[in-house]
Amino acid sequence: MKLELRNITKRFGTLTANDNISLTLEPGEIHSLLGENGAGKSTLMNVLYGLLQPDEGQILIDDQPVKFNGPGDAMAAGIGMVHQHFMLIPVFTVAENVVLGHEPTSKIGGLDLDKARELVKEISDRFGFEIDPDAKIQDLPVGAQQRVEIIKSLARNAKVLV
Ligand SMILES: Nc1ncnc2c1ncn2[C@@H]1O[C@H](COP(=O)(O)OP(=O)(O)OP(=O)(O)O)[C@@H](O)[C@H]1O
Ligand SMILES: [Mg+2]
Repeated sequence: MKLELRNITKRFGTLTANDNISLTLEPGEIHSLLGENGAGKSTLMNVLYGLLQPDEGQILIDDQPVKFNGPGDAMAAGIGMVHQHFMLIPVFTVAENVVLGHEPTSKIGGLDLDKARELVKEISDRFGFEIDPDAKIQDLPVGAQQRVEIIKSLARNAKVLV
């Protein structure tokens, strides 16, 4: 999918955090957004993820304007985000964290942890992440926790990963 930010402006009171920013991402591309502290990187990505509403400008997916009222809308559109500060539950396992909020259920409606484990293993193997589905988050080094966050987004079929 093609994703475009067009003329995005975001203000906080009198401060303009994003001033008329345009950015196009084509399928398969990797972009790096660089800037000093306070340059407005997180603000722009939060607009892209539906956490903030832009004052001006548009987000387009495959050339169609979209409106994100929250991260749920962005996720549904195929956008995943790995936050600067991880959003994982330390006392839960990798598998439990990855399915949190969209848990697979068994025939009788219980949590199907085997399915969650398989999902983690499949994605971990596909990308060479070497993540144990049964490891507790609190026992993992930061780099591994970041990979868990990536697995979490990919498990929700993210096509664009922020
Ligand atoms: N919720 C907010 N309310 C008011 N001002 C904000 C808010 N969020 C960000 N800002 C301001 O907007 C500007 C851009 O901040 P932003 O966090 O987007 O920068 P950044 O490039 O991500 O910086 P860093 O490298 O420190 O993460 C800063 O001046 C910041 O203080
Ligand atoms: Mg930031």
